[in-house]
Amino acid sequence: MTAQLPPAPTLRLANGVEIPQLGLGTWPMDDAQCAVAVTAAIEMGYRLIDTAENYGNEAGVGEGVRNASVPRSEVFITTKFNRKWHSAAGVREACEASLKRLGTDYIDLFLIHWPNPDQDRYVEAYEALTTLLAEGKLRGIGVSNFKPAHLRKLFEAGFVPHLNQIQLDPYRQRRDIVAIHQAKGIVTETWSPIDRNGPMLHDPVIAGIAKAHGKTVPQIVLRWHVQSGYVTTPKSADPRRQAENLDIFGFALSAAEMAALHALDNPAAPVLNADEFGH
Ligand SMILES: NC(=O)c1ccc[n+]([C@@H]2O[C@H](COP(=O)([O-])OP(=O)(O)OC[C@H]3O[C@@H](n4cnc5c(N)ncnc54)[C@H](OP(=O)(O)O)[C@@H]3O)[C@@H](O)[C@H]2O)c1
Repeated sequence: MTAQLPPAPTLRLANGVEIPQLGLGTWPMDDAQCAVAVTAAIEMGYRLIDTAENYGNEAGVGEGVRNASVPRSEVFITTKFNRKWHSAAGVREACEASLKRLGTDYIDLFLIHWPNPDQDRYVEAYEALTTLLAEGKLRGIGVSNFKPAHLRKLFEAGFVPHLNQIQLDPYRQRRDIVAIHQAKGIVTETWSPIDRNGPMLHDPVIAGIAKAHGKTVPQIVLRWHVQSGYVTTPKSADPRRQAENLDIFGFALSAAEMAALHALDNPAAPVLNADEFGH
């Protein structure tokens, strides 16, 4: 069994609900892989699990949470719904279906997975989320992959999401979106935080910082996410890498190291475009 680590510190959503700053991503694990990986992660100290209707693994996540020795109330579950539910009745149906698949009676954070501006119904979907929040089925509500124009449309309708989960890493810092989040008190949550084990993990600047701290490159990148004030959900099915990714709260990057990482932003790095892609 992997050693236990202290759970990640928490941030507060605008309604006061606490969200752990680091959790386990679950895409593209299936139900069976999730059940094992989620239990292992919780036993070692993870308290946030990120899933979605679209991943097809909510049942496995629910099973993994139930099989862990930590009470459900101490685990924060995020899930997300697809474009076909962007209506008042649809969001309610999506919520009931996720609750059933997860085998739980509330969801900690329910997100509009993609804005899908072509169908232009995300404002209606967000309004429906506010109703479910008031009913107590959800503890927090938000969006994912929303760009400035999508956020502004929500603001114009009188809604400010608790959180926006976006693709963000040191090469893709999305500063236009983050600035809006900071101005409006929206928590930034980052997906693909370590670039899916891509080229960023071979970056010489990050490798130099890792060497100086006796840490791995993923640990430096994840530490940059949390020290930037973001919530992040790296995915690993491997207990050793899960432990490596959670073990980032016992050291800090200096201001100079943070500046060196901020300087890696590359506007040419490809980002999935929410005006063209969504489900
Ligand atoms: N909202 C959205 O639209 C959206 C989109 C994509 C993803 N997400 C969420 O964000 C989560 C994370 O994003 P992601 O899975 O795309 O990318 P990621 O977390 O940046 O990278 C995951 C990949 O890196 C590997 N890995 C993990 N830890 C490692 C380490 N310490 N050293 C080396 N390799 C490591 C994993 O392999 P092993 O499993 O073998 O360790 C996996 O191949 C997803 O799982 C999902 O929950 C959300």
